[in-house]
Amino acid sequence: MTYIPIDGRPFTVSMGLRALNIQDWIESDSDLETDLAQKRDLLQRHHGQVFAALPEGLQGSRETLAMLEDHLLNVFPERFPQGIAVDEHLHPLESAARLVQEDLVVMTPRDGQWILTAACVCFPSRWDLTEKVGANLYEIHGPVPHYAERIGEATNTMFGKFTADRPVWRVNWTILDSPDLFQPSGALRDVARSMPREGAFGDVTYFRTERQTLRVLPSGDVLFTIRNRVNSLNELAHISPEFRDNLGPTLDSTSEETRGYKGWHPIWEQLMAWSQGAI
Ligand code: HEM
Repeated sequence: MTYIPIDGRPFTVSMGLRALNIQDWIESDSDLETDLAQKRDLLQRHHGQVFAALPEGLQGSRETLAMLEDHLLNVFPERFPQGIAVDEHLHPLESAARLVQEDLVVMTPRDGQWILTAACVCFPSRWDLTEKVGANLYEIHGPVPHYAERIGEATNTMFGKFTADRPVWRVNWTILDSPDLFQPSGALRDVARSMPREGAFGDVTYFRTERQTLRVLPSGDVLFTIRNRVNSLNELAHISPEFRDNLGPTLDSTSEETRGYKGWHPIWEQLMAWSQGAI
């Protein structure tokens, strides 16, 4: 599945939640084995960077693993002809995260706020999990321009209203200079930090989407899943001819703060030129 959430309309920071058909909760594709191998490697070599859990997140993590096992056996039975074997020594959220391409985050209510209490995030888009553990939704989104004033309160309220029978999904997107799935460090936001890069701009500049789902767990915690996909700009222009035409107006409508947050300043002129078909 390729998501292209750009239609030429002005950029807005919005919740953009849609009803999720539960059969589509987890997406599995031909990158499954590669992505799971990369997760195992990251969990072995950078455990403290990609996994974090507070005691409050244990119950939700156990529930996540149980729910995921049921779901995978039901929807992808061919993947598990012998059933699902889980290493009992691992934290249940780590076991769960090793089964799917998605990153997993457990959010727990505390004093009217939603706190990140357990997470396995192997594929961050230039942010650091260690800075977000124990943080609430406002704190987590501290660096995101316009989040607090436009959707902060609505998002917080929405978390308290999710019900088990109505899971939802949404998509975030950005443009980066690297196709790597593992891109930690919010401190190094700027795209083109690895310049000079070899190749045509549209071949070495990437559109990255995050398909996110939100589901209530039996305890009342909320499970947030994040699935990253990356395509070069030229690949997407090939898949969807409108992509190039739509990108320009949408980019043009972003605020200075958004461009800075997304790290686009160093490649801004080239992005505009690409979207106009000039390069
Ligand atoms: C309905 C729920 C949510 C909404 C509407 C939302 C919205 C957003 C938006 C608009 C961005 C900016 C993305 C960009 O422009 O590139 C963002 C970034 C982010 N979101 Fe969310 N988000 C939600 C839930 C969550 C949850 C549950 C987490 C828990 C981990 C989370 C973690 C993050 C992080 C870590 C970033 C990057 C922040 C940074 O750069 O430091 N989001 N979110």
